[in-house]
Amino acid sequence: MNLGNGKPLAGDEKKGFVKRMFTGISANYDLVNSVASLFIDHYWRIKAKRALKPRPGQLILDLCSGTMPLARAVVSRVKARVVCLDISRAMLAQGMAKNGSLSHALYPICGDAENLPFPDNTFDSAMVAFGIRNLGSLENGLTEIYRVVRPGGKTVILEFSRPTLPVFAQVYRLYLKKVLIPIGGALTNDRQAYEYLVDSIYRFYKPEQVQRLIRTVGFENVRKVSLTARCVTLYSCNKCNGFGRSER
Ligand SMILES: C[S@@+](CC[C@H](N)C(=O)[O-])C[C@H]1O[C@@H](n2cnc3c(N)ncnc32)[C@H](O)[C@@H]1O
Repeated sequence: MNLGNGKPLAGDEKKGFVKRMFTGISANYDLVNSVASLFIDHYWRIKAKRALKPRPGQLILDLCSGTMPLARAVVSRVKARVVCLDISRAMLAQGMAKNGSLSHALYPICGDAENLPFPDNTFDSAMVAFGIRNLGSLENGLTEIYRVVRPGGKTVILEFSRPTLPVFAQVYRLYLKKVLIPIGGALTNDRQAYEYLVDSIYRFYKPEQVQRLIRTVGFENVRKVSLTARCVTLYSCNKCNGFGRSER
């Protein structure tokens, strides 16, 4: 999103814009997500949950948690606790209204993923679904995750990427422009928000670059798997435990 001055937003300016934008679309965010992805978003989150391999009793961090769909998916099957952090209080409030009997295991916190209010080595593992491309600085976000996860602990990240198959790539781009932006805009009354979301997918790093950055921050066992013809990439990694191989 350029906001008219030709320069893409970054840092605190982007953070402020993103916070206002998600707050504005929070009421219908889940509906647009599921309709626009033809409900495939549920499958992507199941893949993320399986990659995380949560265990009973664990304390897990869900960053950029939004309306907490990934956190709910985790605690619906495993007796773990998930701290759900998001910069938009309104997104968390929408999520809390859906948590029902799972709410005892979910702890919403309004905060900034780039400046986490937790001591070092607090969490057994961390996860982020469709959040990292919205950060003011991806490097700051990854560094904070690394700091708060315990040595050896796993991190799983889901994020949009761009399909590379020539015809499919064109059809996908057309779909985002001609279907997602109008539908999202109409259902939330905020076309600009969906223009930003599509724009952010095309401006974001390539999966290889994300993978490199994850390694640079210090994570090991860094892997990436493409999902749905590369529309989405699932990254997984571990914080070094100082004793050679960490759990996978
Ligand atoms: C695309 S939504 C994804 C929400 C959820 N994880 C999901 O899978 O549907 C991105 C979320 O990231 C949050 N976000 C963006 N920047 C953030 C930051 N710096 N710190 C915390 N949350 C942030 C937004 O408020 C929004 O709720």
